[in-house]
Amino acid sequence: MTGAPTKHAKLLAWVDEIAALTKPDRIEWCDGSQEEYDRLCALLVEGGSYIRLNPEKRGNSFLCRSDPSDVARVESRTFICSETKEDAGPTNNWMAPAEMRSTLNGLFDGCMRGRTMYVIPFSMGPLGSDISEIGVEISDSAYVATNMRIMTRMGQAALDVLGDDGEFIPCVHSVGMPLADGVQDVAWPCNDTKYIVHYPETREIWSFGSGYGGNALLGKKCFALRIASVKARDEGWMAEHMLILGVKNPRGEKTYVCGAFPSACGKTNFAMLIPPKGYEGWEVTTVGDDIAWIKPDAEGRLRAINPEYGFFGVAPGTSMKSNPNAMESLHSNCIFTNVALTDDGDVWWEGMTDEAPAHLIDWKGQDWTPGCGRPAAHPNARFTAPLSQCPSLDEAWEDPAGVPVEAFLFGGRVASNFPLVFEAKDWTHGVYLAATMGSEMTAAAEGKPGDLRRDPFAMLPFCGYNMADYWQHWLTLGHKLAGNLPHIYRVNWFRKDENGKFIWPGFGDNMRALEWIVDRVKGRAHAVESPLGNVPAYTDINWNGLTFDQALYNRIMTVEKEKALREVQTQADLFDKFGDRLPKEIASMRDLMLAELESAPEVWELPKSA
Ligand code: OXD
Ligand code: MN
Repeated sequence: MTGAPTKHAKLLAWVDEIAALTKPDRIEWCDGSQEEYDRLCALLVEGGSYIRLNPEKRGNSFLCRSDPSDVARVESRTFICSETKEDAGPTNNWMAPAEMRSTLNGLFDGCMRGRTMYVIPFSMGPLGSDISEIGVEISDSAYVATNMRIMTRMGQAALDVLGDDGEFIPCVHSVGMPLADGVQDVAWPCNDTKYIVHYPETREIWSFGSGYGGNALLGKKCFALRIASVKARDEGWMAEHMLILGVKNPRGEKTYVCGAFPSACGKTNFAMLIPPKGYEGWEVTTVGDDIAWIKPDAEGRLRAINPEYGFFGVAPGTSMKSNPNAMESLHSNCIFTNVALTDDGDVWWEGMTDEAPAHLIDWKGQDWTPGCGRPAAHPNARFTAPLSQCPSLDEAWEDPAGVPVEAFLFGGRVASNFPLVFEAKDWTHGVYLAATMGSEMTAAAEGKPGDLRRDPFAMLPFCGYNMADYWQHWLTLGHKLAGNLPHIYRVNWFRKDENGKFIWPGFGDNMRALEWIVDRVKGRAHAVESPLGNVPAYTDINWNGLTFDQALYNRIMTVEKEKALREVQTQADLFDKFGDRLPKEIASMRDLMLAELESAPEVWELPKSA
């Protein structure tokens, strides 16, 4: 191939092969420069796909409206095509690789006719870090090319790291809408047929028919979680759906923790937490809000990087009250997808301000007024923003060695059960607690209210292999790294009273649980043994700046035997799916927990004196 900015023979041959299959009009290698980004955005504005926002409100920022049917990840069309169905496991869609390849070959044949094929080299993680990996995405979407420049270290710099013979993950993406006679249509292109396909053994990603971020920005969920989780299993590290944050106390001591939460549990807010009143001198800093790659260093201690370079955050609900750090990251250089447009050329979404503007253009491009009965922004509307613009960004966010991980937090949304915070008794117990986490169902139609919708490790849609083997991988790493392991915690900000009101204030006040966790990790905080694990007594929490009496605290810390037992009993529904692939340690941990709960009091409460 002439004019290609690399001598990497395997990469060049692969680009030729994909071009021969997809038959684009043009091939463009992305160099990642500002000039290229500006040119592609201008092209998208000209074609009608991007609207340039008012530069005085949002400098160099754009609004994009998707096809109304292409607004989210499509789990039913997401496949793990391992050689055997058992290796994909019961929680993934599977098709035999040969059959899938034949289907995809048909779909990709000529699918880029009339379009430009962008070749997008990218690094997941700081350039050249031992923990980072290189990918190359081929896509016929300029939306993808521009978003990838924000979300990853993209372009020539990634090619330079790759060199002439480095390893890369090939990622092929097409919106699946060839253009007749090269005519550019203004609508968001997508195809009714969608396939998001992963071949874990050959480490390939093929995505057809969708332009939505989670399906099309292939560095994120497809590579950094599904393919990376398989690589991590084979190479002895971890690819996790986790935020990474740093806590600095007034003495300047720093502690990093990673946290996994299912969607709609405030993960981005927690990653950017602002310490509450009473925590003067404390600082919480952000390394990442969605994905962590974690590897043992030479001493066997776990170190984490954020493989991403930007935020692809849910806009609705984000406000100066709920997350000022996120809001302040959005002043410029952003792409907004499916939010509403204000009359003065800015963006708006539900929850951004207490009062909605009197008139907007909604995410579908229609006039909108308050009370019209339709949301102005799609509930899954997104902002794509550079990490570097986040005011709480951690000073080590680009450290190629990663940051040391001292605790893992796992949380769900549970109204009626589970204390605010408790510490696993050991690594195996912690893995068990993470494997069984989830959020409570609310509508009776979705199951019994109070039952958990399980989302093990918040990885249910993102684990690239059999989930039981993934648990085993965590257990095996635990044995290997014994003596150097982070502590594991379950947290629950969502206990409600009998009127359905949250008891715990949440947001910045989650800092109080975080401080106890940090002090436990450092070996200086007291704890009381509960039937579920170690919990902080009332006096173990710092209440500076918050009125929250002991009786209220006890309400979010009690363990009701019947509920706790029912929870462990219903975990069988999850475990049974895995048959004899379920790790023995998980099965025996369950027996142990059942036995311990049987001998617990009907209602366990913190001792009065504590
Ligand atoms: C995300 C998700 O977009 O978890 O981060 O779906
Ligand atoms: Mn996520």
